[in-house]
This record gives sequence, structure tokens and C-alpha cells, in this order.
Amino acid sequence: MDNNFYITTPIYYPSAKPHMGHAYSSILADFFARFKRIQGFKVYFLTGTDEHGQKIQRAAEKKGMEPKKFCDEISKTFFDLSKTLNLSNNDFIRTTEERHKKSVEHLWKILEKKNEIYLSKYSGWYSVSDEAFYSEDEIEIKDTKKISKISGSQVEWVEEESFFFKLSKWQEPLLKFYSENPNFILPESRKNEVISFVKGGLKDLSVSRKSFSWGIKVPSNKDHVIYVWLDALTNYISALNYPITDDNLYKSFWPASLHLIGKDILRFHAVYWPAFLLAANITPPKRVYGHGWILSGEEKMSKSKGNILDPLEIIQNYGIDPLRYYLIKEVSFGNDGNISKDKLENCINSDLANNYGNLCQRVISFIEKNLSLEMPKNYKFNNEDTKTLKVYENNFNNLVNSIDIQNINFYVNFIQDQLFSANKYFNDQEPWKKKEDTDRLNTILYVSLELIRKISIMLYPIIPDTSLKVLKIFNIEEKNIDFNSIKVHESLKNIKKLTKISILFKKIEKND
Ligand code: MSP
Repeated sequence: MDNNFYITTPIYYPSAKPHMGHAYSSILADFFARFKRIQGFKVYFLTGTDEHGQKIQRAAEKKGMEPKKFCDEISKTFFDLSKTLNLSNNDFIRTTEERHKKSVEHLWKILEKKNEIYLSKYSGWYSVSDEAFYSEDEIEIKDTKKISKISGSQVEWVEEESFFFKLSKWQEPLLKFYSENPNFILPESRKNEVISFVKGGLKDLSVSRKSFSWGIKVPSNKDHVIYVWLDALTNYISALNYPITDDNLYKSFWPASLHLIGKDILRFHAVYWPAFLLAANITPPKRVYGHGWILSGEEKMSKSKGNILDPLEIIQNYGIDPLRYYLIKEVSFGNDGNISKDKLENCINSDLANNYGNLCQRVISFIEKNLSLEMPKNYKFNNEDTKTLKVYENNFNNLVNSIDIQNINFYVNFIQDQLFSANKYFNDQEPWKKKEDTDRLNTILYVSLELIRKISIMLYPIIPDTSLKVLKIFNIEEKNIDFNSIKVHESLKNIKKLTKISILFKKIEKND
């Protein structure tokens, strides 16, 4: 059990085509999935689309399309994006699939049976854009429109018969759950937000809608469709074949290790979801991590604001690995981050082309010229060599521990420092002046290759394609990448011949 790792992205609304914010969540989740795999974990990585509810129904109506057909089209663009982003997901779930419907109906029946659901009437504010109910004190007026103070989305008044989930009853158990599982919500600042929201008092939650039909019907009352968030959240277990609990997937991977989400949907994941699960007597997930937003200027990137940076366009112009590297490095994880083409280009030129690409190219070209690509033998480390190599071993536990709390900034900074240090090592050691001293020459080249190997393994979760290209020098294939081996200094000694590589990143010509 402990060797299994289950990670999820939010499932995206196929109301419009994917944008950079969606790409960001997915790339980050892929980083963790790949990292855990090379660490030796058995990983299950899930993504998909959230296809029911009024938001989708209205978007389909606007296009004059039947909702399922509309979803089929847009969900496919999210599916295609998962390929373009080079995600290593094991499954792509759509909430319109039969397997999902069955799980949701089952969960509903359990909640009903346990007396956690009752029929009443909802009258209050609803945002179709957020698919969220808001109380009076969460509403303000802006330009004569009523909007949610939390998301800024417009709200409308809803009055209809509705089933309610007894959320109020779960206030104390939730607070107890948070205090017993102090790392359930990360980062810390978000956890405090959630706890004060729950301490402020929880009202029962409307969990069905009657005024439209696009959704999963309430099993006992077909006039109602199940609230889209109860439907959507269940994807995390329906993809594991819940309620078939003796199935390998559910048994091996639930509770999820990490739901990676944007901070905008924290309340649903950190309050409603564990409450539904506790009420159904299902163990809640181990961690919900709410990352920040990608901003365009000062605002969240979103369709309604019209400030979208198209990931496909960026990938077409620069490639997928530069985008992955840039998003993972540049947006300080947990916080909001501003992105721009200019910063992306600087990042490609300095980090990827200069620091990484050049290092690999210089070392391998030098070995080609002077050793005909034979693996340098008879090396003997001096103090400087050992010191440079040992940094990985010395920081190993810190690296693993920081990833365990999703602090990827530490990981990324470490890589940058090591790229700097490896380049400095090669420059300072001046192998081109040591051609007479073959032992020393061999040692310098051996150490340089070890550094390239270690750095490339560390870069694998960030830029998998490029890292695999470089690891080909040593004949290391994807299935053999082992993060634990960054601690080892003599892993290359049995290799006889090295393989040449082509240019990794082209520098971008800049006009300024
Ligand atoms: N369908 C719901 C999630 C259900 S999960 C059970 C939903 N979908 S969404 O398409 O609106 O967006 C989902 C996620 O996309 C956000 O939580 C966030 O992770 C990501 N992002 C969307 N816009 C974003 C930015 N501008 N920046 C970063 N991520 C953002 O909510």
C-alpha cells in the first residue's frame, strides 16, 4: 500500500477549449507522477473532463448543440492536450461515461440510506460559472451586477425544490480531521483559510437541481439531477471502479495521495469532498494541494476575461519541454505567477540552451574528439571531484522531503545550482589543458558525465523528452531511470561506449 501513489488533476469543464491554466495544473501533476515513478512508487495518475451541469448545458445551447455532442467535441480537445503536454496519465475519465454514472448513483444511495440527505427547498444565490451556491454575505454588487466576492463571477437567484446534504453535521468531524491530518491541506496559508471557513459554521448543502436536466438523475427522484460538484468529485473514485472495493485499483490506490487543484476550487475539495466521504464511511484523500493561478497581467487567465495564452500556440512555437520547464520553474509553486513570452524566451536561452544544452554538448563533443566516444576509464577522484559529486547525496533527503510536501521550488533551485556548478567544474578543470595527463583527463570527463547523468535524471519529471534524449548517451531508458541513483558516483563504470546527441535547444533570437 505504502508504495502506491495516486495523483489526480481537477477534471476540466469542457465549456471552451483548454487554456494555459488547465495546462499548468496538468503539467504540475505530471511532474509529481513522473517523480514518484522514478522514485520507485507504483503510480496511478488520473485526469479528465467534468461534463454535466448548467454551465455545460448553457454552453451547448449557445452553440445550438445537444450537450453530449458538444462535450464529445470539447472533451476531445482536452484529451488531445494531454498528449501534447506529454502527460503520463493512466486514465482519462469523462463524467458522461457509464462507469462514472454507476459510482455516483451508488454513492448517492449510500448517503440517502445513511440519512445524510433530505428533501427541502433552496432559495439563494447561484453562480453558473462556478457551479457554486453562495450565501448573502458572499455577494457584492459591481456595476449593478451581483457577483460572488470570492470568484467575481455573476450570480443569479435560484428558488427550487432541492435535496440537501447534512453538511452542518460534519463541521466538528471535519475540524477534527484537519487537526489529526495537519498536512491534508497544503500550502499552509490555504489550510488556514479553509479552517476558518469551516469554523465560521457550515450550512447544509444543496446537492440536487431541478430546473434543468443535464446531469445524473437522482436515483429515487428523476425530477432532480445530482449537483454537479457531487457528481464531479466522485470521479476520483469512479475511475478506480468504486464501489467494487475488491478491485485492484480501488484497493491499491484509494485514498488518493494527492488531489492537485487550483486554489479556486479548494472549498469543494477540502470541505465538501471529505464531508461526503466521511458521511459515506469512505476514507478521505491524504492531501489536497491548492496551487496558485497563472496570471496574465494582474488577472487570472480565463475565458470570460479574454486574456488567454494559448498553450498549443506556445508549444508549436517553442516545443513542449520549454513550456513545461518554464511553468514549473517560473511560477513559484503555491503562489500566483505572471507569465509572458519574453520571460519564456529568456528561460529557454539561459537555463535550457546555455546551462543544460551547452553543458551536454560540450562534454560529449570533447569526448568524441579526444576519446572517440569511449567511456573515460581509470578515473581517480580528488577532493574537489568528490565534493562536487557528493552534493547530490548530501541533499538527497531534503529533495525527497520537499517533494513530499509539494515544495518543488527547492527541487528546481537545486537543479539550477547544480547546472551552474557542473558548468563551472568543466570550465575550471580545463580538460583541454590536461591532454598529457590522461588519468586526470579521464577523471574530469568521468565526473562531468556523472553530473550530466544526475542532472538529467532530476530533470526527467520536468522535461521528460529532453532528459531521455540525454540519458541515451549512457543507454539509460525510461523504464530504468532511478531517482535513488543520483546518490551513486560510479554508476557509469561498466559502460564502454557513449552515444552522441544532437542539439537539445535552439537559442531564440531576440531583438532587444
Ligand atoms: N470542473 C471543475 C473541477 C472539478 S474537479 C472534481 C473546474 N474546472 S475548470 O475547468 O474550471 O478548472 C479547473 C482547474 O483548472 C482549476 O482548479 C485550476 O487547477 C486550473 N486553472 C484554471 N484557470 C487557471 C489559471 N488561470 N491558473 C492556474 N490554474 C487555473 O473547476
